[in-house]
Amino acid sequence: MSAIKTVSVIGASGNIGAPTVQALLESGFQVTALTRECSTSTFPPGVNVKSVVFASLDSRLIVDACVAVGVKRFIPSEFGVADYKSGLPYPEMAGAIQGKLDLLDYLQSKSDANPAFTWTRICTGLFLEWALTVGHLRFDKAAHAAGIFDSGDEPFHVSSYPFIGKAMAAVLSRPKETANRYLVIASFTASQNKLLHVIEELYGQSWTVEHLSGTEIRKAAEKETREKGRDAGIRPYQDLLACFLYADGMGAHAKPQYTDNKLLGFEEDVEDPKETLREWLAGRI
Ligand SMILES: NC(=O)c1ccc[n+]([C@@H]2O[C@H](COP(=O)([O-])OP(=O)(O)OC[C@H]3O[C@@H](n4cnc5c(N)ncnc54)[C@H](OP(=O)(O)O)[C@@H]3O)[C@@H](O)[C@H]2O)c1
Repeated sequence: MSAIKTVSVIGASGNIGAPTVQALLESGFQVTALTRECSTSTFPPGVNVKSVVFASLDSRLIVDACVAVGVKRFIPSEFGVADYKSGLPYPEMAGAIQGKLDLLDYLQSKSDANPAFTWTRICTGLFLEWALTVGHLRFDKAAHAAGIFDSGDEPFHVSSYPFIGKAMAAVLSRPKETANRYLVIASFTASQNKLLHVIEELYGQSWTVEHLSGTEIRKAAEKETREKGRDAGIRPYQDLLACFLYADGMGAHAKPQYTDNKLLGFEEDVEDPKETLREWLAGRI
């Protein structure tokens, strides 16, 4: 497979889009940001910007367009915490991510029919900045309080936004090795307790800990999803995701036995959470 030189990014101004664009520029790719007509996003010098009318939210149309113009590699906006394609941890999660699952099947069918069109799926584990700022990790810096699922020792993969950006550039720099592959990447392996320990060190004193039952939270989220369907919104899905990551040995837990960091030129545990946690405590993220 020949080298990839030009990359178009949809969502290039987003949480992972912006660091991805930065890493692509630093790696020498020519980058085009495909923005919505209503977008007011700005980009660094050197980025071509093209305004696009996305006629539909159906990403399969974007795949069709890519195949038609000879795009070599498609990276879907998956970025999950486990390989959902091989089975969901809890069936009740399906409603929130069915669109993503459908797209993965579609990509495979297009690649089978057009071998020059390839894909790479990327599992990042938990987005650290997102999990802190939206409260997913149950760390409340105003109250100096943490909600800890069960023992708090359950390990899970975490990635920072800058690391995800660098990993995306590394994937596209290695088109042969990464073609039609599901890759697991992670900045490091964490647990709620390990992260809380670093926070308390940075803060200079202990936080209040509320112990949460993973089983109770899971059952409540499953019940709400079953009873309300789509009307339940995203919160029960987020609760199930939290159980999947943080609760002791729940279901098909994403045991972080391995990553593909080495394939992409990174060490395991390539980052220390301290800097991001310090920035979060200081209100800079
Ligand atoms: N693993 C985790 O912990 C975790 C956590 C959160 C999210 N995720 C996943 O990460 C992925 C990306 O999330 P993100 O946080 O980077 O997204 P984001 O910050 O919300 O970025 C979205 C960008 O996409 C563009 N956009 C928004 N709506 C669009 C639409 N309808 N059509 C086309 N473009 C649109 C916007 O750019 P313009 O204004 O420039 O067009 C926006 O800047 C998603 O797949 C999400 O599910 C994973």
